[in-house]
Amino acid sequence: MNIIVTGGAGFIGSVMAQYLVNTYPEDTVINLDKLTYAGNLENCKPIENAPNYRFVRGDIADRKFVYDLFEEVKPDVVINFAAESHVDRSVEHPEEFVRTNVMGTTTLLDACRDLGIPRYHQVSTDEVYGDLPLDRPDLFFTETTPLHASSPYSASKASADMFVQAYHRTFGLNTTISRCSNNYGQYQFPEKLIPLMISRALKDQDLPVYGQGINVRDWLHVEDHCKAIDLIVREGRIGEVYNIGGHNERTNLQVVETILDALGKPKSLIKYVKDRPGHDQRYAIDPDKLEKELGWKPKYNFDTGIRQTIQWYLDHQDWMQNILSGDYQNYFKEMYKDRVQ
Ligand code: NAD
Ligand code: TYD
Repeated sequence: MNIIVTGGAGFIGSVMAQYLVNTYPEDTVINLDKLTYAGNLENCKPIENAPNYRFVRGDIADRKFVYDLFEEVKPDVVINFAAESHVDRSVEHPEEFVRTNVMGTTTLLDACRDLGIPRYHQVSTDEVYGDLPLDRPDLFFTETTPLHASSPYSASKASADMFVQAYHRTFGLNTTISRCSNNYGQYQFPEKLIPLMISRALKDQDLPVYGQGINVRDWLHVEDHCKAIDLIVREGRIGEVYNIGGHNERTNLQVVETILDALGKPKSLIKYVKDRPGHDQRYAIDPDKLEKELGWKPKYNFDTGIRQTIQWYLDHQDWMQNILSGDYQNYFKEMYKDRVQ
């Protein structure tokens, strides 16, 4: 199979590209990424010379580029990870979220429809469901929970999901959608809670906790997310939505304290700062459908996963340093000067 993975230089997409290249040597993985600030080709270093891997720089919202690439590659599957993904940035600049997350998705859907691409998977998020109250631990998001987005980020992702479902129903496109809870693990850009706190704690800098730190997130290791997507793409029912999560709810304060304990740093580094506007209180996924229909089970729980993750960042301080200094943006120029279209 030819598999186009969009956003494959980002956090989750790069783990997915590595997983597919290594697990299915008979398939070819084409990584289509615009290399925004969040795209880092160092994340793809372990596979950059693999015979079944190719990187193409481009924008999913650029219609001509997408059509030309799809005509050339004739993908059997398109898996769309490409997105603007950070809630705080969406509060500052919603327009880029509309462009990439909504227009980019509809451009990919149009290309699939017009060129007869047999299979499309949309990587979505549990944030499309809005939030749950802190005092109702009995409530979980299921696939039938109504969409109720809170932030410009989640509104753009919910909108994209609706286009995917509309293209399935109206045009018969073979689509699936997965909605996963918060991810953590290797290669996550240090604007997100866990890598931000690890990198700052290592330098004895203040750790900015929004509000009172009581908001709850449901954490899933990135490798478990990628295996679930692979399963859905290969065995999922067409037209369906699958929630992905592993029942690992923690308050933000618990997460930050776990990191401080693991690094042997004092709690006095915690600094409570002004809350995020519209801050979602609690996310919690019910993964029953994925477990029962497709037999998915996560490998990590939060305790084993966070230990692996902290160790990874300790072992890859150059990777973090290259991001903090901006050097990672030169990697593309150096590595690909002779071979990029
Ligand atoms: P990320 O920000 O780390 O990576 C996004 C990638 O997309 C980057 O490589 C970037 O260069 C690329 N990109 C952005 N705009 C593009 C465009 N117009 N054309 C082509 N490439 C473009 O994001 P992530 O955390 O890896 O998230 C990947 C996907 O998973 C997103 O769709 C996100 O909504 C979803 N998701 C993320 C989480 C999470 O916790 N991070 C949880 C559930 C779902
Ligand atoms: P984040 O990693 O941005 O993911 P999301 O907003 O998509 O869930 O944030 C996770 C939680 O951590 C969220 O409740 C906001 C909080 N947070 C902080 O308290 N301080 C920070 O500096 C950041 C980035 C997030």
